[in-house]
Amino acid sequence: MKLQNQLNHRGLAELAKKYGGILHLQMGKIHIVSVSTAEMAREILQAQDVVFANRPANVAISYLTYNRADMAFANYGPFWRQMRKICVMKLFSRKRAESWASVREEIDSMVRTLTKQTGFPVNVGELVFALTRNITYRAAFGSFARDGQEEFVKILQEFSKLFGAFDIAEFLPWMRWFSNRGFDKRLENARKSLDGFIDKIIDAHIEKKKSRKHDDDGLDDDMVDELMAFYSGESGNKSNDSQSSLRLTRDNIKALVMDVMFGGTETVASAIEWAMTELMKNPHELVKLQQELAQVIGLNRRFHETDLDNLPYFKCAIKETLRLHPPIPLLLHEAAADSVVSGYSIPRDSRVMINVYAIGRDGSVWTEPDKFKPGRFMESKAPDFKGSDFEFLPFGSGRRSCPGMQLGLYGMELAAANMLHSFDWELPEGVSSGDLDMTDMFGLTTPRATRLIAVPRYRLKCPMDI
Ligand code: HEM
Repeated sequence: MKLQNQLNHRGLAELAKKYGGILHLQMGKIHIVSVSTAEMAREILQAQDVVFANRPANVAISYLTYNRADMAFANYGPFWRQMRKICVMKLFSRKRAESWASVREEIDSMVRTLTKQTGFPVNVGELVFALTRNITYRAAFGSFARDGQEEFVKILQEFSKLFGAFDIAEFLPWMRWFSNRGFDKRLENARKSLDGFIDKIIDAHIEKKKSRKHDDDGLDDDMVDELMAFYSGESGNKSNDSQSSLRLTRDNIKALVMDVMFGGTETVASAIEWAMTELMKNPHELVKLQQELAQVIGLNRRFHETDLDNLPYFKCAIKETLRLHPPIPLLLHEAAADSVVSGYSIPRDSRVMINVYAIGRDGSVWTEPDKFKPGRFMESKAPDFKGSDFEFLPFGSGRRSCPGMQLGLYGMELAAANMLHSFDWELPEGVSSGDLDMTDMFGLTTPRATRLIAVPRYRLKCPMDI
């Protein structure tokens, strides 16, 4: 097996079955520790949370995040804490109604598109990726730069490739002379394109702020507007100083926007596509779920978000999807000090990967671990994903757990429920559920390796707009 394949969630899960729940690899000067049991995950994310609250960043990540000027890769400390506060209280909070409205409105538009395609094969994968890109783009930039979206998608794709690229010089610094010069150039170009794109948007926001009237209620504010409230010109604090009020530089704003783009786009889209794929693969589960929707809502009106509280089986199917296909399968942490986990010493600066994928499919914890059985979550003591059940960690746990969980779940649940309530779904002619390929693709997230194609048929007895 190639080294790159061994170091992904599947390869590491296989190695863990052979050699046990903790693996130590040394690549040049770097120690890599991989952990694949719930108990060890608890030790790292709960008992010794502070020691493991940093993230590792390779050369590409450091460069592309403006030297960790963002939140996802900032080291644990006062700066990270302030950035996280802004995200949780301002950007991703329920109180910021605009983010949630973007989700609803873009899903409505997706349902309208589907209505026009009923009876024809639809590329569900592309549809949901476009959906979540539209949601995050709109939440971040509002009505600014509407027509720049295609250019921005290209920038994101290049960032994504560079984030995952393997650079030998990182492990063996003496190989730097040998390392690919073209790679450095690509990094530089990628950041230049991002600068060119976002600088214009930031300038437009600065103008907007200047010309703002006193009675402006800020109701159409986007995320960049929110961040502008903390903008300090170029003299903000980029590092871990402990100023109590945070000032942000342009680099901070750019890097934070990229966190939202990466954290909130592929994760949500891949989860929706996997949910739809598992349901097409397991038609009896699709029937059960649609029966619940028909019983609770009826077929005379569309799904409404308040229905979510009355759809227990649907919610279990969402959890089961996240168990089998956690969008971020390896949690990446770094040891800030020497420590001991389950009797094994872990040197300071080790990169620690918690294999959430392997833990979610651990046969000593889950019965029939590889099967899609939403009913398992109906049991009274079934685990939840809020971070205190370490056998099920799709959003991580502890200090570095996902701050966008509520917003992400909202998008995932609303999109899937709308697709399943308004439409029946079949595979295209000549394809059977047994033909569906369930392999994933490893990058920053783990979407399906091939896009799901399925045929929607309008299911409701009322017109679309009810
Ligand atoms: C189904 C959707 C999502 C899943 C499964 C997911 C999962 C995760 C996971 C596993 C982590 C790392 C936790 C750890 O290391 O312990 C994380 C971190 C993060 N997520 Fe999410 N996420 C989702 C949606 C979102 C959304 C919608 C946003 C933003 C709008 C977001 C923003 C972030 C950020 C900024 C971090 C880094 C936090 C830090 O380092 O302090 N995520 N997410």
